[in-house]
Amino acid sequence: MRDLEAEKRAAAVAAAALVTDGQRVGLGTGSTVAHFLPALAARGLTGLRCVATSVASEVQARALGIPVEPFGDLARLDVAVDGADQVTPDGWLVKGGGGAHVREKVVAAAADRFIVIAASDKPVDALAPPVPLELLTFGLAATLIELGDQTVVRAGAAVSPDGGVIADYHGPVGDPAALAARLDAVPGVIGHGLFPPALVADVVIARGDDVEHRRVRG
Ligand code: 5RP
Repeated sequence: MRDLEAEKRAAAVAAAALVTDGQRVGLGTGSTVAHFLPALAARGLTGLRCVATSVASEVQARALGIPVEPFGDLARLDVAVDGADQVTPDGWLVKGGGGAHVREKVVAAAADRFIVIAASDKPVDALAPPVPLELLTFGLAATLIELGDQTVVRAGAAVSPDGGVIADYHGPVGDPAALAARLDAVPGVIGHGLFPPALVADVVIARGDDVEHRRVRG
C-alpha cells in the first residue's frame, strides 16, 4: 500500500532543496505544501522574502519562522512551490481543490520558476472534471446561467479571501486550452483551476522511495 504522506514529504523535501538564500518565494496551499513549509524552514536559509496563497499557509509558515509579507509590493518571485490535484505528462494541471487557485495562479505567473510537488496519486493521462472556479458575487446568478448547469457552487465552500465564490465545472474537459479559453471568456469568472504547461517549470513527483524531477520548461 502506498504511503501518500511519505510521498508528499519526499516531494516537498526535494523542492525545498531547490530554494536558495535570499530568494523571493511563493508558498502554495494544501496538504503537500504543509510538508514543504517545514522542509523549507529546516533549510535555515537567510534573507527569504515569502508570499502565501492562503491564510492557512501564511499561519503555518509564520509559526515555523518563515517570514511572510503581503503580495502587493513584490513585483516578481524567484520561485513558487505548490501542489496540484491533477498533473498530465505534458504539464497541464488542475488546481483549486482547496479553493485557492486564483491566488495560486497569480503567484505561479509571477514566479521565474514554478515548481509543482505531488505524491503518486496526482499524475493523470488526461485532465478530468471537476475544474475549480472562482466567481464574482456580483451577478452570480447570471454567471451561473452563462456557465450552464454543469457548474455548481461548491457545497459548504467558504468565500475566498478575495471575496469570490468557489464553484466547480463538472462538464467534460476535452482540450484544456479550449476549455480554459471558454471559461476565461465568461465575465463573472475571476479565474479557473486549469494551469497551462507554460506556467510550470518543474514537476516533482514522489513514487514510493523514488522522486522523479521533470523539467517542463526552462
Ligand atoms: C489548493 C490547491 C492544492 O495545491 C491542491 O488541491 C493539492 O492539494 P493537496 O496537496 O492537499 O493534495 O490547488 O487550492
